[in-house]
Amino acid sequence: MSSSTVINNSSTTAWDQSSLPEKIQTFDEYKSLYALSTENPDRFWTLAAQRLDWYQFPTKIKNTEFDYRTERGVEIKWFEDGVLNVCYNCLDRHIAKDPSVGEQVAIIFETDKLTEKRHHITYAELLRDVKRFANVLKNHGVKKGDRVTIYMPMIVDTCVALLACARIGAIHSVVFGGFSSHSVAERISDCESTIVITSDFGVRGGKCTPLKGKIDVALTMEQCKSVKTVLVFQRNHGLSATEDDCAEQRSSLLWVDGRDYWVHDELEKVDDKCDPEPMNAEDPLFILYTSGSTGKPKGILHTTGGYLTYVSLTFKYVFAYTPGEVYMCTADVGWITGHSYVIYGPLSNRATTVVFEGIPTYPDVSRFWNIVDKHQINIFYTAPTAIRSLMAHDDSFVTRTSRKSLRILGTVGEPINPEAWKWYHTIVGDSRCTIVDTWWQTETGGFMITPIPNVWELEGGSATLPFFGIQTQLFNKETRQPLQPPNTGELCIRDSWPGQARSLYRNHERFVDVYFRPYPGYYFSGDGCEIKANGYHWITGRVDDVLVISGHNIGTAEVESALVQHAGVSEAAVVGYPDPKKNQGMYCFVTLKDGVEESDALQKDLIKTVREIIGAHVFPDIIHFAPNLPKTRSGKIMRRILRKIVEPDVHNLGDISTLNDPSVVDELIKKCPRSH
Ligand code: WT7
Repeated sequence: MSSSTVINNSSTTAWDQSSLPEKIQTFDEYKSLYALSTENPDRFWTLAAQRLDWYQFPTKIKNTEFDYRTERGVEIKWFEDGVLNVCYNCLDRHIAKDPSVGEQVAIIFETDKLTEKRHHITYAELLRDVKRFANVLKNHGVKKGDRVTIYMPMIVDTCVALLACARIGAIHSVVFGGFSSHSVAERISDCESTIVITSDFGVRGGKCTPLKGKIDVALTMEQCKSVKTVLVFQRNHGLSATEDDCAEQRSSLLWVDGRDYWVHDELEKVDDKCDPEPMNAEDPLFILYTSGSTGKPKGILHTTGGYLTYVSLTFKYVFAYTPGEVYMCTADVGWITGHSYVIYGPLSNRATTVVFEGIPTYPDVSRFWNIVDKHQINIFYTAPTAIRSLMAHDDSFVTRTSRKSLRILGTVGEPINPEAWKWYHTIVGDSRCTIVDTWWQTETGGFMITPIPNVWELEGGSATLPFFGIQTQLFNKETRQPLQPPNTGELCIRDSWPGQARSLYRNHERFVDVYFRPYPGYYFSGDGCEIKANGYHWITGRVDDVLVISGHNIGTAEVESALVQHAGVSEAAVVGYPDPKKNQGMYCFVTLKDGVEESDALQKDLIKTVREIIGAHVFPDIIHFAPNLPKTRSGKIMRRILRKIVEPDVHNLGDISTLNDPSVVDELIKKCPRSH
């Protein structure tokens, strides 16, 4: 059954309780629930769904097909006749059950600087703000099923915007605030949003950055004609000019009458009554774009009932959360981690969640640990890239803080190397806190392979064992055959779990091609993995043309297409190489057009082009001017060889005889700064 020998070799006892436990306390308890979740998923997920409030509890639980060769084809439905509302489950129901919860803090807002007046937002206040903003959306004609693009910094208003969409059944599509106008335009047009929610500015690391300005440019682009309305939150609204970092920039803001509206003006016109919209469990909740191995970003589509059931249960068990504890996840709401584990997972569990606007290094590298002490944070969740950048500084930046409140430390986004794990454990966690290394993806909605705290032993660098309902299976890339652990191969998942993406927005065919065609009957993750004899999973990284740099997914094809938009470039090939700090570095082979001279200035200009076209968070590390690239006779660039050159592993290039001109390889090696 399961690929995990730990689970296989153990006897399992049936789970005969009428509800799921509050916490998983023993390995036997995990084993019996795991057995239930895989042998009787209907029963297990019924119990999990009972943790939520439904207008109509589902009678049909699991109805899924992974095999594209069947008549039905790939189709994923969970709780399909259930009716619920995500926002109601995150806010109203806690207060409905116990009115005193209204006074409990839902969000602690930690601003970049310390000028913000409003730091603690209670459940009652958040609910009131969400209802009022939902009414603003309604006043502007937003209805159930409409797509709403959200382009915001990390502030409380962003959470309000997502929850308000969920309340009225609008589908949100959050675009990370670092993306360029071009990238936002592409994402707006793909889902044909009619409305954009943004903020005049964002403030990070002491700098004020324009967001509305980038939307203005995006909306001049040809493909963006669907947008009729732009709702603009004013960052630092209510602060005096001397406190306001953005006062100066604000004077140069453009305004299109009849299209652009200040949210604070619109809020004057609404009351705070707004009933949640009853939604079918399979109605879409949101779209979130992620990079694929080919050019166009993929609009990952998540739906209502299964997603919330899954993120709620994973949050509860993996952080062993009890209401009253303070939880902080450092991810931006622009990524899936922000959706699932800043907002929906925590709030559906009545957690107090910290929203952090700033960066780990401002005003200095003690920032995270100062925040931990200031808000007495019990559970802290961040990315290996942040850990690695902080461990490069003197340990005293950590040790001069107390951190006594911490109980659990989490990591996500890329493999964590054992040194970083050890530093996180011993220095940050004083060897006292348990670490949860959570492997999952935008597509999976929530945690897939992860420790459950204090239930089994950890090994630094391993995400350990699968969550309930998750059955992992390795495959051999060449033979396409399943592998029995212990082994290393391509990581697939057998059978569905409620949190998984249902499709790509209006592109089911690509969904099937990317995730279900590689191994018929299985979900293909795109990651490599080693499963050891004890069943522990060690993720080895992407096996496709997606780079994971500092925890962000970047498709090499996207970067290539940005490079060739530069007037001097005729062709580009982008590959990753191992980087101890960022997980991967970005190496760009660039062929210039005839007559264009190689120069340092041109290198800089190419880097600038990529950042302008895709976003400032995308940064080519090395530009290598290559008059020729290794190509097959049919003209296909052999990226496999380029990867070996930059790794560098030039003695294992493999078969290069199919190249049109094998001498190209030597030229490239000679000039590659990494192969010497
Ligand atoms: C890819 C998914 C899931 C939220 C953040 C990224 C890599 C993620 C781990 C981990 C090793 C990890 C994988 C995965 N990844 N978590 N704990 N250990 N690798 O979401 O942008 O969809 O990226 O991130 O390569 O496929 P994403």
